[in-house]
Amino acid sequence: MIVAKTVQEVRAQAARWKREGHTVGLVPTMGYLHEGHASLVDKARSMCGKVVASDFVNPTQFGPNEDLEAYPRDFDQDCALLEEHGCDLVFYPSVEEMYAPDAATYVEILSDMPKQLCGRTRPIHFRGVCTVVSKLFNIVQPDFAFFGQKDAQQLAIIRRMVRELSYGIEIVACPIVREADGLAKSSRNTYLSPEERQAALVLSRAVFRGQELAASGLRSPRELLDAMTALIQAEPLARIDYVSAVDGVTMMPAQELREGVLVAMAVYIGKTRLIDNFIVGGADA
Ligand code: PAF
Repeated sequence: MIVAKTVQEVRAQAARWKREGHTVGLVPTMGYLHEGHASLVDKARSMCGKVVASDFVNPTQFGPNEDLEAYPRDFDQDCALLEEHGCDLVFYPSVEEMYAPDAATYVEILSDMPKQLCGRTRPIHFRGVCTVVSKLFNIVQPDFAFFGQKDAQQLAIIRRMVRELSYGIEIVACPIVREADGLAKSSRNTYLSPEERQAALVLSRAVFRGQELAASGLRSPRELLDAMTALIQAEPLARIDYVSAVDGVTMMPAQELREGVLVAMAVYIGKTRLIDNFIVGGADA
């Protein structure tokens, strides 16, 4: 696996591969990789001639009081996982390589879409995500890019950005990967104490309960969200940021629980903010 630290190296290698007739898949990550990321690489490996992963904790998507400094990092462990899953190149840039000190250009969707769900408490988050993903797309120029369904709002926003900015890139969504007991895999799970780790199961329990209710034919988002909220509130270490049902494409509140509605939540377990979701009528429902 090639380790590239500069934009120039990645651009040149990806262009070479494309000239040779390979399709190129991009898996953008912030590192501290787990089986969820591995599933993205596996999917990319199955669809593309060459697989590029990026490993970059992107400062522009963190708010002033968020966990940028504390965000877990282990590049050697990341390389081992990427190699094992057949990644061809990892792009591991410094902050200085990605952003000039006076950088002032951002990519932002100017609608209510990024203000919903996570955007309510993370107002600059999706602007940072769109900016860095846009830069990665320009550097690698992939044919396909792979994102996890766990970050459902991010996925919907990237799809819209790709459509509206005419990137000729196919976005491939990959299912949520869970621990054996149900907890969605996340780099932030590492922040949890053993007691919090146990309490965090309340998110997946709420997801499974919501899936059952939706599958039973319940059509009222209010009733579904009330049931999920009550379940989460019964856990003393949990504090709800949001539990919402929205249209899976626009992220605007859903009036009815029809197929394609996204039911998503963000819940603090102690100081750690975790997210989880399901899609009504989705593959895992
Ligand atoms: O999902 C993530 O890990 C990040 O938001 C992404 C897409 C790599 C952009 O920094």
